[in-house]
Amino acid sequence: VAEEEKAPEEPEVPDDNNPKVLAEEVERIDYSGAQVWKVSTKKSSTQRLINQLASEKLIASWGGNHSAIDILVKPNALENVTAALKKKDVAYYVMIEDLQQRINEENPPLDENELELQDRRGHRMTWKQYHRLEDIHGFMDYLAKTYPSIVSVNTIGKSYEGKELKVLRISDGKQGNKAVFIDGGIHAREWISPAVVTYFINQFAENFDVESDDIKNIDWYFLPVVNPDGYEYTHKSDRLWRKNRKYGYGPSTCTGADLNRNFGYRWGGKGASSYPCSDIYRGSGPFSEPESKAISDFFKNTATKFSAYLTYHSYGQYLLYPWGYDNALPPDHKDLQSVGLLIAQAIRKTGGSEYKVGSSSGLLYPAAGGSDDWAKSLGIKYTYTIELSDTGRYGFVLPASYIEPVARENLAGLRALASVVNKLD
Ligand code: ARG
Ligand code: ZN
Repeated sequence: VAEEEKAPEEPEVPDDNNPKVLAEEVERIDYSGAQVWKVSTKKSSTQRLINQLASEKLIASWGGNHSAIDILVKPNALENVTAALKKKDVAYYVMIEDLQQRINEENPPLDENELELQDRRGHRMTWKQYHRLEDIHGFMDYLAKTYPSIVSVNTIGKSYEGKELKVLRISDGKQGNKAVFIDGGIHAREWISPAVVTYFINQFAENFDVESDDIKNIDWYFLPVVNPDGYEYTHKSDRLWRKNRKYGYGPSTCTGADLNRNFGYRWGGKGASSYPCSDIYRGSGPFSEPESKAISDFFKNTATKFSAYLTYHSYGQYLLYPWGYDNALPPDHKDLQSVGLLIAQAIRKTGGSEYKVGSSSGLLYPAAGGSDDWAKSLGIKYTYTIELSDTGRYGFVLPASYIEPVARENLAGLRALASVVNKLD
């Protein structure tokens, strides 16, 4: 989920004269003493106060909904922010006492046995750990090599830093198959997303012969890491980076655009910032970013007609459908709501997690330039943004032990969607 922050009317920051790509990570940002609080937004004035504190860089928004917002409070701001909230009588409580501690515990190394097992296979991917881009891409290539009759990998473009944008297709090549596109990792710090998408890939590729007809009658396209530069940056430098890493929009600390504000349908509307330092910076124009542009080109150049587009994010446990740009609904919103409820029910029955279903503008807040709105505008019927676990206990820093349960229940959700897609004419 993103910030509800209004674009502050600050001047565009001029380009400084630094080299195009920054020198290899000099340091890792330390979040020791930083906290995450859940703040009630029941009082109408709270959002303004939050925006104010955010513009003073005392806090950063982790997202929220109509009733509460999660904020990261910097260690040296704890007193001031406490005072500001108390003064306005705003209710809040501490979710994370020490963010760095959570980060340190999030992704423990594998034990000996698991490492040994891992080395006997042709790839390094597990769903017991969050993996670097290299492992994810290595896993995709391994599947293409191992199952050439059903799996293929295509590079649909390059990121700003030149990393490949790899799409893996699983298909038995039957005439009359439906098609579904799934992506993950649009936002760098949402690590559970690529982990879940690769889990789906693994399930379908490794077990295709024994999969259900609903799965076999679909041509599956997976782009697990839309934002590889950002993803690697969260592993090496700043665990909480959200945007891509396109340099030059502002000073070096303001690198990048929010890819989920950069898609070319109603670009530049509500809930997107024109200020490069914002975490929800929309970019300089629709599809100004190589990563979103590559997705747009892929859809433009394919003859495949997709029945569904799913984009996995975290966190909050929501199934969101268009429109996101404003409080408006597509003509078939009742179908989107009822199928969303089917998916949510399958998730709950399998793993127990509750997912709320609704339009993203209605349930969360308007935010223009999302990939979901753009996919819907292409005529893809079942278009959802899925906000995975959790609801704020760990937020973006969800321990790796949650990968399997979150992926398993969402695989059940995906099967429910596949069954609906199969029944379309
Ligand atoms: N958390 C996501 C974001 O803020 C939600 C996107 C929903 N879709 C939309 N078009 N607003 O990027
Ligand atoms: Zn996201």
